[in-house]
Amino acid sequence: MILSDRIRFVGVNDFRTRLFEHQWPLPFGVSYNSYLVIGEKVALIDTAAASFKDEFLNNIKDEIGDRKVDYLVVNHMEPDHSALQAAVRAEYPECTIVTNAKAVPMIEGYQGLTENILTVKEGETLDLGGITLQFFMVPMVHWPETMVTWCLEENTLFSGDAFGSFRAVKDCVIDSESGTFEEYKDEMTRYYASIVGKYGTPVQNALKKLEGLEIKRICSTHGPVWENSVSQVVGLYDRLSKYEVSHGVCLAYGSMYGNTEKAAQALAKALESRGIPCVLHNLTEEDYSFALRDVFNYDTVILGSPTYNNGIFPPVRQFMQAICDRQVKGRRFLAFGSFTWAAASVKLLNSMAEEGGFVLLGEGVTFKQGFSAEKFDAEALAALV
Ligand SMILES: Cc1cc2nc3c(=O)[nH]c(=O)nc-3n(C[C@H](O)[C@H](O)[C@H](O)COP(=O)(O)O)c2cc1C
Ligand SMILES: [Fe+2]
Ligand SMILES: [Fe+2]
Repeated sequence: MILSDRIRFVGVNDFRTRLFEHQWPLPFGVSYNSYLVIGEKVALIDTAAASFKDEFLNNIKDEIGDRKVDYLVVNHMEPDHSALQAAVRAEYPECTIVTNAKAVPMIEGYQGLTENILTVKEGETLDLGGITLQFFMVPMVHWPETMVTWCLEENTLFSGDAFGSFRAVKDCVIDSESGTFEEYKDEMTRYYASIVGKYGTPVQNALKKLEGLEIKRICSTHGPVWENSVSQVVGLYDRLSKYEVSHGVCLAYGSMYGNTEKAAQALAKALESRGIPCVLHNLTEEDYSFALRDVFNYDTVILGSPTYNNGIFPPVRQFMQAICDRQVKGRRFLAFGSFTWAAASVKLLNSMAEEGGFVLLGEGVTFKQGFSAEKFDAEALAALV
């Protein structure tokens, strides 16, 4: 797939994998993007996941025929991009691996490759003959060895996972009418929230480092090639990594017998009637990454959990833990839930929220046994938001 005379897309779409990292659902698939930069020498930027070896190597041959890959640039060692390094070396035995010092032992550890590796440092360049690559370290976005590659003549940033998105790419991988930023925004936010979310500060550092570049094209490792929406994509990452949000509610709950669920629905209705944006998530039906996405969209988190073995209902506890693990900053918080003989869930959720630095909007509402409007005053709770 031609991006320009000198840059080609050789990535693959994955519609087979149900869970990315055996954890995150992929309702629209995912792509593992890889690129060729073609000068007098040919550089391949990153590879793909293990099960796509034949398709990936064929994509390369479709673009360059019998020419050789002279360099394999390794931006990031997570196996969704690095699994085919040894396969590339087997196909092109003289290919030099180009990476930074932190990735070198990982390349040995994962792929058993130790020979013919060129180590680059911050800001160093590689002349491909007519076209130049430059390397910038972006540690912890989201592994320690991560770097990005800048192509000077094409104003193109090969950004690794940064600016990546779930959702496979269209035939035309460039963001266009068939694959706009708006179409990808939700899955990009869910990707960020799930995978990169903990690393807000390193992402901010990376954005500052790249500020001076006049970026015309972003070639990430997942999702579209951004040409028409560069500023929106950078803006979204900036907002997400600053944990900036708009006013609204991520309202998530788990419920065994429907009582906490009825309370959640009543609260959603009360918020709606006040014109407060609210997205309702049932954590027992839906993977928590969808709710996590909305924790990165809205300033208020409201969680419903029945008391369970003197604790929080496990799906809700797992979600709350995921929020805390990502060190999400500055959210407003409320909890509610049903119990039968001794309430515990709301208190425990409140203390997790306080430990995470959230502002409690109130002590929450815990109600005994069956739901009723008398026991659970949704209007009063909504008024706190
Ligand atoms: C396995 C299990 C453990 C429970 N543990 C407690 C508990 O420790 N304290 C309590 O008050 N209620 C406990 N309950 C009762 C639930 O909190 C109660 O049924 C509640 O109404 C369920 O809310 P839901 O309809 O939203 O699922 C437990 C229920 C189950 C099934
Ligand atoms: Fe990664
Ligand atoms: Fe990745």
